[in-house]
Amino acid sequence: MSDMGERIKPVRAPDLKAKKRRGERITMLTAYDATMAGLLDRAGIDVLLVGDSLGMVVEGHDSTIPVTLDAMIHHTRAVCRGTKRALVVADMPFMTYQTGVDDAVRNAGRLIQQGGAGAVKIEGGRAVLDVAARLNDVGIPVMGHLGLTPQSVLRLGGYRPQACTSEDADELIAEAQTLEAAGVFALVLESIPAEVAATVTRELTIPTIGIGAGSYCDGQVLVSYDAFGMFDKFVPSFVKQYAQLGEQIVSATEQYISDVREGRFPAHEHTVGATTRRSGRD
Ligand code: KIV
Repeated sequence: MSDMGERIKPVRAPDLKAKKRRGERITMLTAYDATMAGLLDRAGIDVLLVGDSLGMVVEGHDSTIPVTLDAMIHHTRAVCRGTKRALVVADMPFMTYQTGVDDAVRNAGRLIQQGGAGAVKIEGGRAVLDVAARLNDVGIPVMGHLGLTPQSVLRLGGYRPQACTSEDADELIAEAQTLEAAGVFALVLESIPAEVAATVTRELTIPTIGIGAGSYCDGQVLVSYDAFGMFDKFVPSFVKQYAQLGEQIVSATEQYISDVREGRFPAHEHTVGATTRRSGRD
């Protein structure tokens, strides 16, 4: 229930296609914990992606490849606990679906059943068609991901724009169509030319959600740590930073350190029997 007492209608996978039909843009951000998920949900975000980007921004790895299924379930649970309205989509990590349809069903099942996700996301085109179709058949909504697919970074040789030649663009458009036919309910397009994303968006009835793919997609997604200026190891050129929370956190921490060192915090009256806000902890 919201503050006004009316019931909140959760976003479900089919709602995204309905949004595309109505010409409404879809908004998606990544979240990895309950507090952040609650804030983004309160702001009205449509989709929260528990991205395997957590391997880089939360766990400190150089790629998404080391992320485990257990870690994804752990973070998905936390995000779901903080979310009332948004659709929570959980990334299937590297080697949890590429090894076969049965593995994919079992592992996606854990993200839905134990993690609480409303859908899963897999990367790739032709190589994952049978997986996409089977997950859809057993009732698990699947989001696709084409273009720069970070789990293939070793084969791609780096985080580079994709579908830049006309052959590669044609191949990507064909793969998008086969993914739609296999039953995916939405498609992330990462780091591809805007005109290729525009063609895919026009050709498909399912929504496209772009990241570094121009403005013609049906929706946009950003890694929240990038969007809020919290991750400074590498900021992709297409990112718009809506805040500089990293700088604010450093500055707040400096103030805290200085207050403690100089004896300004805690204030004297709060140390002697004052009522505390969190009675369970203080
Ligand atoms: O893992 C992730 O955050 C993603 C987005 C970049 C789309 O897949």
